[in-house]
Amino acid sequence: MTSINQTLFEKSQQLIPGGVNSPVRAFRSVGGTPIFFKKGSGSKLWDVDGKEYIDYINSWGPMIVGHAHPEVTQAVQEVVANSLSFGAPTGLELEMAVLINKLVPSMEQVRLVSSGTEATMSAIRVARGFTGRNKLVKFEGCYHGHSDALLVKAGSGLLTFGKSNELGVPSSAGVPAEVAAHTLTLEYNNTQQLKDMFSKIGDEIACVILEPVVGNMNLIVPHPEFLQTLRELCTQHGAVLVFDEVMTGFRVALGGAQALYNIKPDMTTLGKVIGGGLPVGAFGGRKDIMQRLAPLGPVYQAGTLSGNPVAVTAGLATLKLIQAPDFHAKLAAQTKKLVDGLIAAAKEAGVVFSAQSVGGMFGLYFSEKCPTSFAEVMLSNKENFNKFFHLMLDAGVYFGPSAFEAGFVSAAHSDADITFTLEVARKAFSALAKN
Ligand SMILES: Cc1ncc(COP(=O)(O)O)c(C=O)c1O
Repeated sequence: MTSINQTLFEKSQQLIPGGVNSPVRAFRSVGGTPIFFKKGSGSKLWDVDGKEYIDYINSWGPMIVGHAHPEVTQAVQEVVANSLSFGAPTGLELEMAVLINKLVPSMEQVRLVSSGTEATMSAIRVARGFTGRNKLVKFEGCYHGHSDALLVKAGSGLLTFGKSNELGVPSSAGVPAEVAAHTLTLEYNNTQQLKDMFSKIGDEIACVILEPVVGNMNLIVPHPEFLQTLRELCTQHGAVLVFDEVMTGFRVALGGAQALYNIKPDMTTLGKVIGGGLPVGAFGGRKDIMQRLAPLGPVYQAGTLSGNPVAVTAGLATLKLIQAPDFHAKLAAQTKKLVDGLIAAAKEAGVVFSAQSVGGMFGLYFSEKCPTSFAEVMLSNKENFNKFFHLMLDAGVYFGPSAFEAGFVSAAHSDADITFTLEVARKAFSALAKN
């Protein structure tokens, strides 16, 4: 009998490109049919056919307190009665600004938007407006949303850092070469390359944007000297340092990666957790930079639903919960328990595997040791990941459907969830070992 899931996917493909509203959901990397969900509670999800899963995606990060947390749900239900949107200021936005400034003190001023993509795109514009420079530096394997300037890979001009228009080339059709030419893409964790680039064209750089812990090429941890050198070089050359904490914000630590590594960026972008599952993003930082924004300054940026009261309420309720004493220590310990258990299970079965975690984020790699760059991640055994993914999924454990995505644990993940996951993983690893 055809499942409801299969029917929905077939019909969706007629009307929605690829049947999905964001490409990773399509399971193209791992093969098979994407799962259509209808319900979530705590650490669990149920698909449209009623099958239960332990969720290690958590909507790619936002559901840090688990699905349908009663306090978040109740706050949202109460606020919707007052109208869904005003397109005018509310006290809730101020409450959010106060909280962001308290938890992420480098964000002296902040503006709310509706997605991470909007946050990074706007941060880059204000950095360019502030410095009067055009060049933007990013790193291979980091993802900052889908705006034109950021869908760029390294071009041949990169080797010399010349003023050629081949510094960056579009990584997506539809991005003009002229736009990509202003973006340089360097290797993550390559401190020497960073120094070489700044010594040649440092004074032309408007901003450098990076994920301070990367979650978009699986999980990659920064070398501390890489972040430190980057901070020093940006200061020396007057370039704006932007930490994209859309994924790491409030997740790797209460104050984000900047608190964890004790480095103060000039600007920060946030998303995911600050919306608690509803569409919210934020960008902010030094007051002198943020004051360049309209209506005060010449940099234009706007949004009909920016600071939407319902979305901000879900975010505020979530941020309230994650400020509980030891919230992040417990989340990190639970995530580490999962990671350590998976490493032990793979070892027992004799499968080449490594894993690591930072706070509530984790990376699983079918490689001898944890990678530190995009090139190293690419060397991991993708076939083994894909088989592992499907074995786990069949048994009711939902990991990200790609070898190149980080995983997420929520405060709702119990010891029983971890124990179940590890039991299933032991069987999956031993099946892999027999192949
Ligand atoms: C680090 C980072 N920045 C920006 C974005 C874009 O956010 P959104 O998908 O909300 O546009 C993402 C999305 O995953 C992200 O992980």
